[in-house]
Amino acid sequence: MKFEKNILCIGAGYVGGPTMAMIAHECPQYKVTIVDINPDRIAQWNSDSLPIYEPGLDELVKATRDRNLFFSTDIEQGIRENDIIFVSVNTPTKTFGTGAGMAADLQYWEKTARQILEHSTSPKIVIEKSTLPVRTAHAMERILNSTQKSVRFDVLSNPEFLAEGTAINDLKNPDRVLIGSRETEEGLKARNALVEIYANWVPRKKIITANIWSSELSKLVSNAFLAQRVSSINAISALCEKTEADVSEVAKAVGSDSRIGSRFLNASIGFGGSCFKKDILNLVYLCRHYGLDDVADYWEGVIKINFYQQERFVQNMLTAMFNTLAGKRICLFGFAFKANTGDTRESPAIYVARRLLEEQAEVVITDPKALDNARIDLANAQGKIHFVDDPYEAAKGCHAIAIMTEWALYGELDYARLYRDAEKPAFIFDGRNILDPQHCFEVGFNVFSIGKRP
Ligand code: NAD
Ligand code: UGA
Repeated sequence: MKFEKNILCIGAGYVGGPTMAMIAHECPQYKVTIVDINPDRIAQWNSDSLPIYEPGLDELVKATRDRNLFFSTDIEQGIRENDIIFVSVNTPTKTFGTGAGMAADLQYWEKTARQILEHSTSPKIVIEKSTLPVRTAHAMERILNSTQKSVRFDVLSNPEFLAEGTAINDLKNPDRVLIGSRETEEGLKARNALVEIYANWVPRKKIITANIWSSELSKLVSNAFLAQRVSSINAISALCEKTEADVSEVAKAVGSDSRIGSRFLNASIGFGGSCFKKDILNLVYLCRHYGLDDVADYWEGVIKINFYQQERFVQNMLTAMFNTLAGKRICLFGFAFKANTGDTRESPAIYVARRLLEEQAEVVITDPKALDNARIDLANAQGKIHFVDDPYEAAKGCHAIAIMTEWALYGELDYARLYRDAEKPAFIFDGRNILDPQHCFEVGFNVFSIGKRP
């Protein structure tokens, strides 16, 4: 069958997989191929057990796979046969050398740029889908144009704003699609080609175009603003606990101002996920690079508060439980960094579990989707750790339950039953404010929520 366009995505991860599945679903006239260097990942994408859990993703992949969506390890062939190439490889925080712990590690991204150059024999539109430091497109262009090859490359920035757990809806009905390009005749032509792809299902007024640097920077700033809201309400939760104000009531009152808005004001144990911390660190590093230390300090505060909130949670447990956790069994309800995903990258639960083990507590972990990842995250942790599927079994005989992830199921459990099977005095620390504290108190628990009076 002849397709109107041939689209390639390099990197079959949390972004590449769902994003391309959506394009394939909404545009049956295009052929979409996803390639990855990891053969196991590609095998999983081609199996009945996809490598990531995301509500609605299975159905989307089933409807499109082998129709106009293909997963492959043949990166070179992919580059040769496609003229529109999304790059969606990982861009983690650098762990070595200059900028370690702050800057983005661009080695995977640069390797891809060089591969595209090597195997291209026809003009390509290369699209940055990964989150990258502002001005990366300049480096991409320099690599792609570094030889005498007479192939034309146009580089676009098209950052992804999906959130895990709601990725399919975010892709189907995005608040906006952002496309940045050079403002030259060729740049605008390439930009229009990408606008045309999204316009198959996204209303034109939601497709924002910008200069390429604004586009790259907007992605970092969006994540910084979102994380800043979480740190802001979390900082206030500490003050609420000292003053008998209730953080949920404060968030409601503050968020009712339409200039502020009500979303992203849920006080919690802290934000996790693969991107908030890494992208803010990247922003902070860029600011310092440009000599903007005051700006860097401002944004670094968002991360400091997030760390403070996680440690504060552990300290609250310690204080409430008579200043010793040694030998106590503590059950963590949830390990994923948020509900509706199996992803545990940068999950606050990792920090809490490690700190509890340091205090010589015995840790029991339960989660409906993230236990495999939890096992990997804690593989080298010292101490007694158990992984249990059933939450009632997990909590049996425990001195405390700590809610780490806001899975709906934890709000629906029988807390009277959990209390009966608990060591007494029994404690609940609700790191997500999803429980009814009054009910839990009435069945017998000592209840500690975030930003509320115990
Ligand atoms: P991921 O680790 O899940 O996937 C990246 C994939 O790229 C991996 O499967 C890896 O094997 C592959 N890869 C690395 N180098 C490669 C190469 N040279 N050739 C082929 N494949 C290669 O990462 P992710 O979560 O999908 O994130 C990708 C990018 O998107 C990051 O920059 C991230 O910041 C950004 N982003 C992520 C999210 C999210 O929700 N996870 C949302 C928006 C943006
Ligand atoms: C976030 C952004 O929301 C996406 O727009 C962006 O594309 C993505 O990062 C990315 O670049 O990777 P994600 O990390 O998947 O998406 O999930 P969020 O819903 O943003 O939650 C992040 C963390 O903040 C979670 O740990 C969540 O529990 C926490 N959070 C969120 C709160 O503690 N309180 C809130 O009110 C909201």
